[in-house]
Amino acid sequence: MYSFSRKLTVLTPIIVVLLFSGAAVAADKVVTVADVVDALNVITGGRVITKAATPFGTGNPFVVTKSSNIPGKAITETPGLVVGDPKMQVRKLAVGMTLTESEIELAGATGVDAIVLHHPVADAASSGGVPLRGYVDLYHLAVFEVHEAFHGRHPGIAWMHGHVPFKVDVAYGGIQGNVVYVGKPLPEVRTIGDIIDRLAVLSDLSREKSILAVKREQRQSPNLNEANVAAGPEILSGSRDDKVGCVLHFFPHTGFTPAHMRQLKKDYPDITTVVVSISRVRKDDPLVKTARDLGLSMVAGNSHALEIVENGIPLACALKGLLPGVEVVVFRERVTSAPLETVGSKAMRDYGTEMATRYLMQKK
Ligand SMILES: [Fe+2]
Ligand SMILES: [Fe+2]
Repeated sequence: MYSFSRKLTVLTPIIVVLLFSGAAVAADKVVTVADVVDALNVITGGRVITKAATPFGTGNPFVVTKSSNIPGKAITETPGLVVGDPKMQVRKLAVGMTLTESEIELAGATGVDAIVLHHPVADAASSGGVPLRGYVDLYHLAVFEVHEAFHGRHPGIAWMHGHVPFKVDVAYGGIQGNVVYVGKPLPEVRTIGDIIDRLAVLSDLSREKSILAVKREQRQSPNLNEANVAAGPEILSGSRDDKVGCVLHFFPHTGFTPAHMRQLKKDYPDITTVVVSISRVRKDDPLVKTARDLGLSMVAGNSHALEIVENGIPLACALKGLLPGVEVVVFRERVTSAPLETVGSKAMRDYGTEMATRYLMQKK
C-alpha cells in the first residue's frame, strides 16, 4: 500500500508558510465579504474582479462565457463576488463545488455567511429554479465563484495521479481547454497499480465503499449506487504490473482525439501510460483502442465527483490560512441512484404512486 508520510512532511512547510503568510488577515480582526474577495485575489494570483468596470469584468481574461450553443443556456464566469454586501461580516465560510438549492439550504440552516464555489454560478439554475439574489439574501449568504481563475494555480491534480508535468498545454491542437500534461512519475510510482492504489488512498475509497454498504443495508436497496464508488479508479487497458515511464494525462471531455495521442507519443516516445481524469472513456472507446495500438497502458483516475478533494479542499485550506479567524467548512455532495422500487421509504413511494396515477398520467 502506498505511504504518504514522506509527502506530508514535504507539504507541511507549505501549509505552515501559508498559515503565517503576511497576506493573512489577523485572527482577531472582523472579516468582511470584501476581505474574502481579497483572499480570493491572493489565491488566484490577481485574477478576481476587484473593481467595478463598465461593462462588468472588462479586460479580465478569466471572465469566460461557456456555451454549447443551446439557446438560453450560456453562462458567464465572473471570478470573485457574485452576490452579497461587501461590508457584511463573515464568521463562517463554506467551500463547495457546484451551488444547488441543497447547498443554499444547508448554508442557511448552519449559519454560513459566505459560500465560495468552484464551478460557475448561474442565476436560477444554481438556486432551485428561482432567482438567486432574493433566495440567498433571505439567508444573508454572500456567494463567490472562482473557476478558470483557480485552475492551474496548484499542481495537485497531476501530483494525485502520481506524476510531475514537464509539459503543460492548455489548448492542445489549438482547442481551447484541451489541457494536456506530459509528466515524469514520482519516484514511488513504478507501475500503474501504484497509480490506482495512490488514488484509492487519496480519495479514501475504502471508507466510501463502507459508507455505501451501510446505505444499501439501511435502505434495503442492494442496487443503490454512489458516484465516488461507481466511478472509482480503473485500468482501461493493461495490467497492474505495467511499468510507468512517462505519463500522458488529459481530460477526455475537452476535445482530445486519437490523433492527438499518436502525435504526443511521437513527440514524447517515453510515454508509457495514459491517464484520463475528471471525465473518462469506456473500454471500447477509440482512445482506448489507440492507446492499445501504441502499446500504452491506460488508467481512468479521479472522476469529477472528486474535484472537491482535488481543488475544493486546497481552496478551503488557503482561505483558512488567509482568514484564520473565520470558521471554514467544506460542502461535499454525495449523489446516489436507487431503483424506483426501493427509493426512500414506503410512505414516499406510496405518495409518488398516488400523485402519479391520480393526476399525472391522464391524457386530457
Ligand atoms: Fe475545475
Ligand atoms: Fe470541475
